[in-house]
Amino acid sequence: MNNFDFANLIKQDREDRQHRQFSGTFLDYLEIVKENPRHEAMLAHQRMHGQLVAPGVEVIKTEEHPRLKRIYGNATIKRYNFFKKHFFGIDTSIMKIMRYFHSASMQGEEARQVLYLVGPVGAGKSSLMEALKKALEMSAPIYVIKDCPMRETPLHLIPKHLRPQFEEALGIKIEGDLCPICRYRLKNEYNGEFERMPVAMAEFSIRSRKGVGVVPPVDPNNQDTSVLIGSVDISKLDLYSEDDPRVMSLNGAFNVGNRGLVEFIEVFKNEVEYLHAMITATQEKSIPSPGKGPMIYFDGIILAHSNEAEWNKFKSDHTNEAILDRIVKVEVPYCLELDEEVKIYQKILRSSSFNAHIAPHTIEIASMFAILTRLTQSAKVDTLTKLKIYNGEEIVEKGSTKKVDIFELHEESPREGMTGISTRFIMKAIDTALSDSENDCINPLAIIDTLIKATKELPLPDEDKKRYLGFLQDTIKKEYGKILEKEVTRAFILGYKEQAESLFNNYLDHAEAFVNSTKIKDCNTSEELDPDIQFLQSIEEQIGITGTAALGFRQDVTSYMFSVLRSKSKIDYTSYEPLKEAIEKKLTASVKELSRIITKARVRDGEQEGKYNAMADEMKRNGYCDHCCNVVLKYAANNLWKD
Ligand SMILES: Nc1ncnc2c1ncn2[C@@H]1O[C@H](COP(=O)(O)OP(=O)(O)OP(=O)(O)O)[C@@H](O)[C@H]1O
Ligand SMILES: [Mg+2]
Repeated sequence: MNNFDFANLIKQDREDRQHRQFSGTFLDYLEIVKENPRHEAMLAHQRMHGQLVAPGVEVIKTEEHPRLKRIYGNATIKRYNFFKKHFFGIDTSIMKIMRYFHSASMQGEEARQVLYLVGPVGAGKSSLMEALKKALEMSAPIYVIKDCPMRETPLHLIPKHLRPQFEEALGIKIEGDLCPICRYRLKNEYNGEFERMPVAMAEFSIRSRKGVGVVPPVDPNNQDTSVLIGSVDISKLDLYSEDDPRVMSLNGAFNVGNRGLVEFIEVFKNEVEYLHAMITATQEKSIPSPGKGPMIYFDGIILAHSNEAEWNKFKSDHTNEAILDRIVKVEVPYCLELDEEVKIYQKILRSSSFNAHIAPHTIEIASMFAILTRLTQSAKVDTLTKLKIYNGEEIVEKGSTKKVDIFELHEESPREGMTGISTRFIMKAIDTALSDSENDCINPLAIIDTLIKATKELPLPDEDKKRYLGFLQDTIKKEYGKILEKEVTRAFILGYKEQAESLFNNYLDHAEAFVNSTKIKDCNTSEELDPDIQFLQSIEEQIGITGTAALGFRQDVTSYMFSVLRSKSKIDYTSYEPLKEAIEKKLTASVKELSRIITKARVRDGEQEGKYNAMADEMKRNGYCDHCCNVVLKYAANNLWKD
């Protein structure tokens, strides 16, 4: 860093920026149009669509991804690189947003509709809007009529009677008319010689309101439309008449958002007149001018968002039908996939300056709580199982994968994801735990405690509160106990993975020989041996498979592995969920007694001490620090392995 060349960076940047500048007449500009007519005739929705797809699109066929297949069925999922790093678990909403922009960019009916996002608090609506605004900021500067308050396209200068010729020569369609101010200047300053009008380049900027207009909910007593369409500058009324364009200040959200976007925050908090202005802008592509002037052409994306309660209120009023018909509604529910929810907090934590240590499973436990509160109770499965199904996990029951139709679960509760604990609540709890931690380390137990305290303070109906606390004090504690027990016992087994692989390979060899009534060749002695039934049973019994069920299981395993091999995928001990579970249980069982005794012991002899330390070291290699390792092992000793 010390020898970083700032001077060079600044110089380079200035040179780059000079390329982004242009100053000339409309005639000069036409040379540029000739080079790339389509680019210059591009409308706002096309520009946005281009920006969003430019970083790349990943088309995923779920058939090739078992986990995604379990979540989405046989669907094709598109993941847009533009959103990928910042948004998690809301692929469906993003795909809908992209569908809107795609169809709008083709000049479909969507180009004349408002894109409206609805969802619960903290589900990422504002962040999605921010992302779209950033996309504009990142886009290349556009050519505009110099000093036009609407930054309108110079192509508007071409008079109506010449348009057919221009359009044919350039192979484009030219839409829209000059704004009153440019029209006035053309007539009075340039004597109607439009080819002499000056053209410049302009960037998009959120902060300086260039191409991005934002409309916050307006105080109902003061729904002055100047926020939307600008106003008449009263001080100039002494000089000019009221219909003279020079009295207009075109600085409303629609004026500055022309060619870019206009965002309506909490859209339905505004009076209905406001919404009508919004609808005219999108449907007719024009906005009123302040005072007595004519309508002004407008080309921009109109975005709106609100929470569900406001949507429902608005929707229930029949007089609003005309507006409803002009809205493309996209639901942005909470993320319901555990693994993705974890990524949300990791993202937010990365951008914060907390640097305390976070023990394994801490964020996972907090996310688990968030998702459990968002799920509705089902008659088919318990809520934790539902969480796992939504996370694409395989549920093993009595030796086979449990078949629960995820789509039936969705059908059962279509509003799922629209209620429950928000990301912000969880993030605040993580922050609190982080700033309260005395040892610069937070762990799952600390986060559970913080969440319990915070939940108790939530203004919630008693019934919900009881259910939420139940998740924390019961469901999640138990689940964490299982996770921890597995982790500790695993840490006792040196080379856990290798041992699991070796059990797996042995099992496959023997099961296959058994199924095909063949022999197994001992690789050392070349001796032909019968399959070892006792060994097979010792694995199977771990997941409760005994007697005749075992034959079926061995057949299932072998045919499954063959099918995997045929599709040229690799197999390992995790390939077939029931067998994986059996192997893990077998390994765990082999050290369970030992781990119980050694972890619980107050005094350890030399050998026990050695084993304990080796286990603790392994835990630390897996992400624990001295402090949290100590805390969770004490917890394990006192709470797991009940005598
Ligand atoms: N699915 C998600 N993926 C990534 N980040 C998310 C997701 N959901 C929420 N967040 C993060 O949670 C925080 C809150 O989100 P945001 O402010 O966008 O919510 P909102 O829907 O606008 O809420 P409100 O209705 O309260 O305005 C942000 O930091 C956002 O990045
Ligand atoms: Mg918001």
